[in-house]
Amino acid sequence: MSGANGGGGVVVLLGSPGVGKGTQGVRLGRDLGWAHVSTGDLLRAALTAGTPLGLEARKYMDVGELVPDDVIVDLVREHLAAMSADRGVVFDGFPRTVPQAEALDDVLAGAGREVDRVCLLEAPEEVLVKRISGRRSSPGGRVYNIYFDPPRKDGFCDETDEPLIHRADDHPDTVRTRLAVYQEATAPLIGYYGAKELLARVDGEGDIEQVYASLRAAVGEPATPSRASG
Ligand code: AP5
Repeated sequence: MSGANGGGGVVVLLGSPGVGKGTQGVRLGRDLGWAHVSTGDLLRAALTAGTPLGLEARKYMDVGELVPDDVIVDLVREHLAAMSADRGVVFDGFPRTVPQAEALDDVLAGAGREVDRVCLLEAPEEVLVKRISGRRSSPGGRVYNIYFDPPRKDGFCDETDEPLIHRADDHPDTVRTRLAVYQEATAPLIGYYGAKELLARVDGEGDIEQVYASLRAAVGEPATPSRASG
């Protein structure tokens, strides 16, 4: 990676629900020492905490629609403001609309930064649906899959032994809406970032290790890893 941002870079993971953004983003962030910023995770944390933002977001999340752009942009702005200014970031599930992408460009420009790479993970719809239907998560956020990455004890987290959760928005009707919303609202970002020559396509269909190897190649050599705090 060019290291346009001096310290850590800014990578965006783009792709359909279930393609593996969270699975890969957590690992990429950990390996690079960068923050992994998932707007879905931030919203679910707000929901669990019962904050007004979380309760408002729930109306959209439960039916598979996008939370309004201004709510999301404020959430991300606040999150970034609480981090070290030069820390690398892996964005997962953000931006998700062209207005969000424009807002991210503005926020980063204000800090003398910019998006370095956008990795588009791609897999056929039947693969996405199977992955989503098999997903189970621990309350702490560890993600399993009953078909591809099952816990040792059925229904319970390996690390904490807590019961695993089936996300409310992972049920078939909601998944269909989420896939349609992706095509309508998020797929235009492929053109947005393609025009800026930031887009790298990653085959998301293989197993987790294969996809990670392709993703690392697409991200390229990171700038100097920044400190792991923040
Ligand atoms: P969010 O949480 O971002 O959901 P999403 O984009 O729909 O993505 P997913 O979490 O479903 O999938 P993923 O790509 O992360 O896949 P994962 O790695 O988990 O958003 C939820 C909702 O919040 C939205 O619908 C919206 O309402 C709201 N929201 C969030 N951000 C927003 C924004 N910016 N603007 C507006 N609203 C927003 O993998 C899926 C499963 O497959 C797992 O079980 C995993 O173990 C398995 N798996 C992953 N990779 C592989 C592989 N290679 N092989 C086999 N299994 C695999």
